[in-house]
Amino acid sequence: MRPSAVKGTYDILPDDQPRWRALLRTTARVLGRAGVDEITTPVFEHREVFDKSVGESADLVVQKEMYTFEDRGGRWLTLRPEFTAGVLRAFIEHGMHTWPTPVKLWSAGPAFRAENVQRGRFRQFHQVNCELVGSASALLDAEAIALLVDTFTALGLPGVHVKVGSVGDPEDRERYNAYLREALVPQQQALSEASRERLRLNPLRILDSKDAGDQALLAPLARPLDMLAHAAREHFDAVTDTLSAWGVPFELDASIVRGLDYYRRTAFEVHHAGIGAQSALGGGGRYDGLVANLGGPDVPGIGWAFGIERVLDALEGEGVALPARERALAYLVALDQEAVAEVAQLARSLRAEHRVEHGYVARNPGKGLRDADRSGARVAVLRGSREREAGAVVVKDLRTGEQLVVALDDLAEHLRVVASEAPTADGIPTTGGGVAR
Ligand code: HAM
Repeated sequence: MRPSAVKGTYDILPDDQPRWRALLRTTARVLGRAGVDEITTPVFEHREVFDKSVGESADLVVQKEMYTFEDRGGRWLTLRPEFTAGVLRAFIEHGMHTWPTPVKLWSAGPAFRAENVQRGRFRQFHQVNCELVGSASALLDAEAIALLVDTFTALGLPGVHVKVGSVGDPEDRERYNAYLREALVPQQQALSEASRERLRLNPLRILDSKDAGDQALLAPLARPLDMLAHAAREHFDAVTDTLSAWGVPFELDASIVRGLDYYRRTAFEVHHAGIGAQSALGGGGRYDGLVANLGGPDVPGIGWAFGIERVLDALEGEGVALPARERALAYLVALDQEAVAEVAQLARSLRAEHRVEHGYVARNPGKGLRDADRSGARVAVLRGSREREAGAVVVKDLRTGEQLVVALDDLAEHLRVVASEAPTADGIPTTGGGVAR
């Protein structure tokens, strides 16, 4: 990934592509086995979809992080800052509440937030998103969290910390916000400016403050988890009991806060210490009431998303073997003008089986071999007047230097043998741990 011209965006270059594809393939396998199917929704939605979902006090709204624009037809559209609202819009629009429940959907693609750019925080980034809709059972919460953890395990990523908490039901949140206001309004001059603003809009968010002064004021106060009413507490205990029974490692986080307002009860995040200050790889929670808010039936649900860039950063930092760009098996060199057309045609037929590249101009053997080497190919195949007379080509193994004259009719079979002997381009075994190719 290299920064591109627009601040907070980057280009995903050819060398980066195999690891992206491998990550998505592993994710699709883990989620697919749990009955989660893929859904693709548009990158932009009517702005109301997000207005009705992410919440008035969410960072996206308060910090004006949404890219909203008026199109030529006078419609207000928003580039999705997250997937949940769009996926649930599709759920409602296509009557998925009549499908067997729970409906399990995953997606991957770009999301957009006009954030302050720093390591791990971009304006166009990519998420894998997963929604499990249609059941209020604590089993579904445990399954959602376990699936996120299972995905990181399948990717071979060590060092993940899973934090599970509860933001309670709306009444719990109101009660806790009132409690914080009562405790902090008298001391608000000591709060940071951002937290004074939060005290007005959504006091719960103060718990997320990195300011040492704010944290000192919070230290003696109760946490949301300590103030849950019976129903939310019982649900939370059922979730954590299930996770323990399944052997999913997690830590309790009594003061978990999420940047979006739609969460109810279970909220969770997965962090990794190796990726800088923005250490959250992913997060999610339950959002009962959100489907109804978006104009659908009142069905409960839970979901999560992880940032693909952050996960790849963590995998790289941990030295997990990631697949590299595929290189050609053979690079065909034309040693005279007539051979230029010959190698082009030969390449076309060999490509039925292998990645094959060729030169477009006649080269002397030295330059031709250098071209072949730069392409990263395993063998160079040379064709000139001498080879033409013999109905053959010269095949040079670019790793061992071994050189053979091979009849044209035998070339396909010869390359088949080379391909079966060749280690993968990056020397990474195709089985075992790490990211599957
Ligand atoms: P979120 O916590 O806002 O949740 O984002 C999930 C993940 O996306 C973060 O943990 C982070 O890895 C990545 N991410 C977020 N913003 C950026 C950014 N500016 N640059 C790079 N990566 C970023 C959601 O989006 C919820 N929709 C998750 C969810 C699904 N909840 C229920 N269902």
